[in-house]
Amino acid sequence: MSTLGNPARHAPSRLELMRSANLTILLLLPFFSACGNDSQAQVDPLAPPLGLETAQLDISDANELTVAKAELGKKLFFDTRLSKSGKMGCVSCHHVDKAFTDGIPHSTKDSGGKNSRNSPTMYNVGYYPELYWDGRKVGLESNVDAAWTGQLGGVPDEVAAALNGIDAYKAEFQAAFKQDASRETIVNSLASFLRTLRSGNSDFDKKTLSADAEAGQTLFSGKAGCAACHTPGLFTDKAYHNVGIGMAAETPDVGRAKPSKDKTKTGAFKTPSLRDVAKTAPYFHDGSVATLKEAVKLMTSGGHANEFKDGLMIDRSLTDKEVDQLVAFLEALTGDVPFTEPTLPK
Ligand code: HEC
Ligand code: HEC
Repeated sequence: MSTLGNPARHAPSRLELMRSANLTILLLLPFFSACGNDSQAQVDPLAPPLGLETAQLDISDANELTVAKAELGKKLFFDTRLSKSGKMGCVSCHHVDKAFTDGIPHSTKDSGGKNSRNSPTMYNVGYYPELYWDGRKVGLESNVDAAWTGQLGGVPDEVAAALNGIDAYKAEFQAAFKQDASRETIVNSLASFLRTLRSGNSDFDKKTLSADAEAGQTLFSGKAGCAACHTPGLFTDKAYHNVGIGMAAETPDVGRAKPSKDKTKTGAFKTPSLRDVAKTAPYFHDGSVATLKEAVKLMTSGGHANEFKDGLMIDRSLTDKEVDQLVAFLEALTGDVPFTEPTLPK
C-alpha cells in the first residue's frame, strides 16, 4: 500500500476542516455578497460533495487548506503567464468540460516535447498520497512543482516576479499567505485549488440509478470483480496494478517499476478513480482506447497476457448486455458539482 503512515503529512479530521471552513466563510462573506450573487454565499468550497463525506484528503501540514489559497490557485491554474512561452496554462491539458482531461492520447508540452502518458482528471486528486500514473511524486505540492516547471516550462523566479508586478495578484498572495508570490506560494495555491476539485453528488451518490445502472453496480461489485481495485467511494484502491495495458508495445512503459525499483511492478499503474470516467476519454495511461465501452470490455476480458499481470485480471465471460450495464453504472458516476471559471488579474 501507499505512504498513508508518513508522519510528515496528516489528513485533517472532518471537524478540523469544518472549523477552518466556517471561519474562512465568515471572512469571505463580504466578498461573496459584493459579487451580488446570493447563491454563491451558500457554497462552501471546502465542504465535500455528497458521497465523499468520509474520504480523507491528503494535506501537507505546511500548506493548510484555505478558501483564499484555493481561489488564488484557481486563477493560477488558468493563467498562461505561468508558462515559458506565455501561451500555455495548466488548463490547456486539463479542460474543465472534460473533467480536467484533454480528449487526446498524448499532449504536447510548452517546450514542444510530447507526453508519453495520457492527461488524467484533476477531480479528487487531493485524495491521492502519491501522484502521476506511476505514483512517482509524493504529495500534491511536489507534483504541482514538477508539472509547472516540466509541462509549462515555467521559470519560477521569473513568473513570481511577473505576478508580483500585477497589483491584484500581489494583494491576493498577501491575503492568502502574508507573503508575495514565490515558487512556494504559487505551488501551494495550485495544490490548494486542486484539493477543492472534488467530484461527487452523482446519480450513484443520490441513489437515483436507472435499472441498467443498478444491474451494472451488482456486476461491478460481484462477478465482474471491478470493486477489488476500484474500491467504491473514490473507486480506487490508490495502489498499482499491471492490467495488461500497453504491454504489447515494442518497448512497454515500465510504470511503477521505475520509481519503486521493484521489477514485479513492471507495467503497473495507479488504479484511476472511475468518478467522471464517462468524460475522460481516451482511456488508460497510454490513451490507447477511444471509448468507455471498449475500455470496459477490455477490463472484463482479462487484458493482454504478460509476465506481470495482476491475478485478478481474468476473463469474466460477460455478455454484451452485461458490458452495457457496467457502462451505465460508470456513467452514473459523473459528478454534479458547480464550477465557475475565474477572472484573471490584469
Ligand atoms: C502539456 C499538457 C499538460 C499541462 C500543460 C499540464 N499537465 Fe498535468 N498532466 C499531464 C499529463 C500527461 C499527466 C500524466 C503524467 C504521468 O502520469 O506521468 C499529468 C498529470 C497531472 C497530475 C497528476 C494526477 C494524478 O492523478 O496523479 C496533476 C496533479 C497535474 N497534472 C496537475 C497539473 C498542473 C497543476 C498543471 C499546471 C502547473 C499541469 N498539470 C499542466 C499533462 C499536462
Ligand atoms: C487488478 C485491479 C483492477 C481490476 C480488477 C479492475 N481494474 Fe480497472 N483499472 C485498474 C488499473 C490499474 C487501471 C489503469 C491501467 C493502465 O492505464 O495501465 C484501470 C483502468 C480502468 C479504466 C480506464 C480509466 C481511465 O481513466 O483511463 C476503466 C474504465 C476501468 N479500469 C474499469 C474497470 C472495470 C469496469 C472493471 C471490472 C470489469 C475493472 N476496471 C477492474 C485496475 C483494475
